[in-house]
Amino acid sequence: MPKTIVKAEVLAHKLIGPEVCELTLKASGLVQMARPGQFVHVRVADTIVPLLRRPISIADANAAAGTLTLIYRIVGHGTELLAQTLPGSRLDLMGPLGNGFVLEAERPLLVGGGIGLAPLVYLAKALCTSPITIVMGGRNKNEMYWQDIFQSICQNIHITTDDGSMGRQGFTVDVIDDILTGDSFDMVYACGPRPMLEGVARLAKERNVRCQVSLEDHMACGVGACLSCTCAATDGKRRKVCTDGPVFWAEEVFD
Ligand SMILES: Cc1cc2nc3c(=O)[nH]c(=O)nc-3n(C[C@H](O)[C@H](O)[C@H](O)COP(=O)(O)OP(=O)(O)OC[C@H]3O[C@@H](n4cnc5c(N)ncnc54)[C@H](O)[C@@H]3O)c2cc1C
Ligand code: FES
Repeated sequence: MPKTIVKAEVLAHKLIGPEVCELTLKASGLVQMARPGQFVHVRVADTIVPLLRRPISIADANAAAGTLTLIYRIVGHGTELLAQTLPGSRLDLMGPLGNGFVLEAERPLLVGGGIGLAPLVYLAKALCTSPITIVMGGRNKNEMYWQDIFQSICQNIHITTDDGSMGRQGFTVDVIDDILTGDSFDMVYACGPRPMLEGVARLAKERNVRCQVSLEDHMACGVGACLSCTCAATDGKRRKVCTDGPVFWAEEVFD
């Protein structure tokens, strides 16, 4: 897969939810190669520490404008440093990395949990089909800033929150069975916590619907050289999430 390293200019950087930022960059040269489901490896500061880049999914890409959008949650030192980046400064990005989603669906069901919804924005925009149905899960209504983002790109939106403060109380997996029963989907795309992915993959398999899942793992090199991101596959071998994924056919990684 073609990739490059660019010094991307920060065009805008804002909080869109609790501890969640949206970063818009001018990344000409990289953005034209980007596909939904791929990620960029970000050097969060010009200092030696932290040494390792941080992987962040491409939440949107506009090839004509050369702009790239990342949506990330501040969880530790690297993302704290990233959050301090000001418009006008430059960020060192390597990418686009990994294998993206297969864009073959005519009747897609998208399922995202928490920050796992980020790559689904670009995916929903890239799918040349209508209607697009999405199930969005979060801890509470304060995390459902995603509704503003998805309401212009998805026609059918289902929301679950852990505490019931918005949408249906429970997890995304609790509503997928009914949604799969009520409509004829030909592909499920899922990104989020691993238990959610396992549950979605199991239900899609039961309904005989193809399913792609986007996995996360701790990464170092991001380009297949260090083996820090390997996961078990169903054929008994291991896969590198950075280069074989992060998007996999569900049956490749889940029984
Ligand atoms: C392919 C890929 C795409 C990603 N896309 C996004 C995205 O679009 N938005 C976003 O907010 N985050 C995304 N992540 C996760 C993001 O890379 C981590 O949150 C980030 O690297 C944390 O860096 P840190 O220095 O702030 O936290 P650290 O101090 O390194 O860690 C803080 C906490 O986060 C956990 N953590 C760190 N990295 C990961 C990881 N890769 N998987 C699971 N837990 C982790 C650590 O175990 C620790 O508990 C993605 C990860 C991968 C592998
Ligand atoms: S992060 Fe080095 S092999 Fe995947």
